[in-house]
Amino acid sequence: MSMSAHTKRLLKDTGARVPVLCGPMYPGSNPELVAAVSEAGGFGVVQPIALTRLYGWDFREGLRHIKSLTDKPFGVNITILPNSAAAAKYRKINEEFLDVALDEDVKFILTSLGKPDDIVKIAHERGAKVYHDVHNEKLAVRAAGAGVDGLNLLNDRMGGQTGSLPASQIVKCREEVERASGRDDFPLLCAGGVSTAGNLQEALEAGYSGVQCGTRFLATQECKITDAYKEAIVGADADDVVLTNKLAGTFSSVIRTPQVEEGGLRVGFPFNHMLKHPWTKSLARMYLLKGAIEKYDQAAFDPDVQYWQAGKGVDGIEGVLSCQEVIDQFGWESKK
Ligand SMILES: Cc1cc2nc3c(=O)[nH]c(=O)nc-3n(C[C@H](O)[C@H](O)[C@H](O)COP(=O)(O)O)c2cc1C
Repeated sequence: MSMSAHTKRLLKDTGARVPVLCGPMYPGSNPELVAAVSEAGGFGVVQPIALTRLYGWDFREGLRHIKSLTDKPFGVNITILPNSAAAAKYRKINEEFLDVALDEDVKFILTSLGKPDDIVKIAHERGAKVYHDVHNEKLAVRAAGAGVDGLNLLNDRMGGQTGSLPASQIVKCREEVERASGRDDFPLLCAGGVSTAGNLQEALEAGYSGVQCGTRFLATQECKITDAYKEAIVGADADDVVLTNKLAGTFSSVIRTPQVEEGGLRVGFPFNHMLKHPWTKSLARMYLLKGAIEKYDQAAFDPDVQYWQAGKGVDGIEGVLSCQEVIDQFGWESKK
């Protein structure tokens, strides 16, 4: 299979040799992991809150630390929060992350949530590309029309806050996205369930330009989560990965453990009611998310806290490898 124009564009936008990104992860994105993925020929993306809150770096110093470990490019994830009083503080923090990232010569911004229009303008003025996370075709077409350079399509097999549509369905937006962007080499990334060379091949054949992995890179030597978490990923089958809204209020994929299963996989009263009503939904989500972050913090460092986010790609993960071995296993050289 010869390389598509949109895969070529993805490799140009990222500066990677292999069209495999390691997505932002809280927990999981320690700076050494981000650097190791880029150094190996893939492309690491920083999760700013993980870098600062979880791994203790000042944001700018953390970026410089990554640059001291690799001279290959890497990206930064920016969350776009609503323009509301409740979110004002976090909105400002993310604006500062963006400013520092561009100042430190980061040339790839991956935006999550919200409308990317303002960030596209700022990033393009400073020579950076913007890729945006979406979980359905409508949002994909909208973001393409807003001038993003590529899209990350989140599917129903991914780890973390999971999408709801199969990868084979969301990618059907390709034609409309190309029309909306005015470009026939528009990169689309498949995020979710990819951990093997076969998965990558399947994604490329379905019309994707490359993949964004998370779970596969958790089970690497460079990732600083507990050995218990890594072993659980290696030992799990896809059926062991369950969806729960009990942790963060939205659906996330986690490995089934007694702690996760305790009291069921769905929120109970009063949160089930609060999540259904527009007025109370964001309040309930904020509250649950705060609790989830505390659990994820503990799960990153304490083997006895077993709230382990992971995607259905656990099936293809058979060992804890180095990032170089993971990238090599995707077999890209033989695909070109
Ligand atoms: C432990 C874990 C934490 C994650 N945290 C985030 C996050 O903070 N922000 C984000 O945009 N995506 C997050 N993700 C999603 C990843 O960036 C990536 O899109 C996803 O893991 C791809 O699916 P896979 O896990 O099946 O490979 C997380 C995923 C995992 C597994």
